[in-house]
Amino acid sequence: MPTEPDADVRLDFPLADGVARRGDAERAGILDAPGFGKHFTDHMARAVWTPDGWGEDAVVAHAPLVLSPAAAVLHYAQEIFEGLKAYRHEDGSVWAFRPEANARRFARSARRLALPVLPESAFLRSIEQLVAADLDWVPTGGENSLYLRPFMFASESFLGVRPAKEVTYLCIASPAGAYFGDGEIQPVSIWLSQEYTRAAPGGTGAAKCGGNYAASLQAQAEAAAHGCDQVAFLDAVESRWVEELGGMNLFFVLDDGTLVTPELTGTILEGVTRTSVLQIARDLGHEVEERRVDVAEWRDGCASGRVREVFACGTAAVVTPVGALVEPGSRAVPGDGGTGEVTAAIRRRLTDVQLGRAEDVHGWMHRLV
Ligand code: COI
Repeated sequence: MPTEPDADVRLDFPLADGVARRGDAERAGILDAPGFGKHFTDHMARAVWTPDGWGEDAVVAHAPLVLSPAAAVLHYAQEIFEGLKAYRHEDGSVWAFRPEANARRFARSARRLALPVLPESAFLRSIEQLVAADLDWVPTGGENSLYLRPFMFASESFLGVRPAKEVTYLCIASPAGAYFGDGEIQPVSIWLSQEYTRAAPGGTGAAKCGGNYAASLQAQAEAAAHGCDQVAFLDAVESRWVEELGGMNLFFVLDDGTLVTPELTGTILEGVTRTSVLQIARDLGHEVEERRVDVAEWRDGCASGRVREVFACGTAAVVTPVGALVEPGSRAVPGDGGTGEVTAAIRRRLTDVQLGRAEDVHGWMHRLV
């Protein structure tokens, strides 16, 4: 069985010599319009775990992997990941938003997927070293950032079904603009999945593992076929309680200013942005409720005016307004269907903190460089 981290283990992720770097012109062209998840920096952080512990830590060239076709991850999906961003502030310094929270969730996901726990200090060191190596790739100006994708998978070549005895940790980096569309904040439309669920009690819904995302893809394709941007899932037991989108948490703004988000029941991912939005909403004077949300409350609340605004949030999506909830034969739209005032205010406060334009009163920012 994979182990808990050895408190004394120290991974430094030294920078390997001789990694080729792309030229200034090519990089500038990419940073001009990075899109999301399309371009990658020159380096990646890597470490390998065996029953003897963690080792082989280094920052190396971002390059294709050599992987056995029998690598367990390719057969049994023993894999987890994280998503976080590094932001360049006006004085040139570079900061990550709450990376300790990502490190802790990575550890929780690892335990659920029977993977070894990467010590929090190693997780942080890997992103510090990677961002230092790829500093020129951190966008300047606007809301663009360097998206960091730490992940870990069963690299052992073995077809028996058991926790792998060789596991690879990698962190790659990708300059990122808006996740949706071309940067203009536009409300997204949501298809309510009729047939598929994302997670069941006792399953892996609270872990950030690739399998959860694979399971959402067919429902996402159904959403696209109905002209929608995203899919929303209901609970697997009663098909009644709102859970989350494929990779984002949901918030509802009521007519009295209260913010409501589905409570964490073990089938919903505990988003770092979700937790931060709850705090920002309190800071802005809103009541907040984490509780079960009946889909009828969403549907009927749009019609009655009780639900004024709906938004989705996540590292990639930041805070994105939700327009229509689409079901066979019905369409429910909160407010006037545009970006609501509360949604805009929360998004602004969050991005102001991330980009160093507002005071970081909660100590969320972690200086990388
Ligand atoms: C993130 O927001 O970082 C995620 O992992 C979600 C994914 C849909 C990009």
